[in-house]
Amino acid sequence: MGVSQVAVITGAGSGIGRATAHELAQRGHRIVVADINAGAAEVVANEIIQLGGHAVAIGADVCVDADAMVAKAIEAFGVIDILVNNAGIFYPADFLTTPFAEWQKAVDVMYFGAVHCSQAAARAMVAQGHGGQIVNVSSVNAFLGAPLSSHYNTAKGAIDQLTRCLAVELAPHGILVNGVAPGFVETPMAIVDGVSEHSTAEFQQFYVQRRRIPLARPAEPSEIAVVIAFLAEGSATYLTGHTIVVDGGLSVTF
Ligand SMILES: NC(=O)c1ccc[n+]([C@@H]2O[C@H](COP(=O)([O-])OP(=O)(O)OC[C@H]3O[C@@H](n4cnc5c(N)ncnc54)[C@H](O)[C@@H]3O)[C@@H](O)[C@H]2O)c1
Repeated sequence: MGVSQVAVITGAGSGIGRATAHELAQRGHRIVVADINAGAAEVVANEIIQLGGHAVAIGADVCVDADAMVAKAIEAFGVIDILVNNAGIFYPADFLTTPFAEWQKAVDVMYFGAVHCSQAAARAMVAQGHGGQIVNVSSVNAFLGAPLSSHYNTAKGAIDQLTRCLAVELAPHGILVNGVAPGFVETPMAIVDGVSEHSTAEFQQFYVQRRRIPLARPAEPSEIAVVIAFLAEGSATYLTGHTIVVDGGLSVTF
């Protein structure tokens, strides 16, 4: 096992964030489980502690509580080494009829939230003087078009560009910035109106039976978490500015 690092993971109360918290904790790292849903963050931190790991929870909105998350890491563990910008929301939004404020909400949480948190974390990392790692959770939606998703897809496209720009700007400080772009993942986000989009006949026929996803299934959150953890640990010391696509082959076929 390598040196134990301290990771702040946003949106870690559920899905990919929760799986990443568990993956990094299992590798011996200390975790700040951050989520706007304080109760969910507590549950995940307790799960990690029950398994013998080290974790604290904070109820935190990425749009307003970036400094508080970093302060929590330093208060609990004395340092911040890793930030995973994972918090996200999705709701279908018809471009012609969705009011602007409703459309903008997705960009606020997923793009500006990542900006706020990256700035707070990077300032602390620079002050500490020993580098760090930032991992942004993007999506294949960042580089593909889709109906009812212009808010989500443009937010994710902006995150990929943030990954590239911060990689360049923070390189002199020893901070690596990378991203992970999942395809379909079996999490609560995939549930729309109480139904998992992966269970519909349309999804099964097109993506699974016809192998539009070559691996013919959505990912488990743990399959995304291992790639996030790989980047978050910083063991790939010459890798920065890139977003790794983890989509079962979805975006290499047509
Ligand atoms: N599930 C998928 O198919 C999929 C695919 C590609 C990318 N992603 C991305 O993965 C990330 C995690 O999504 P997930 O599928 O695990 O979803 P999820 O809904 O299971 O988890 C998202 C978490 O983010 C939290 N959150 C929402 N707004 C927040 C805010 N303002 N501040 C702090 N926390 C907030 C939620 O409370 C929730 O716990 C998101 O960025 C999402 O866009 C998901």
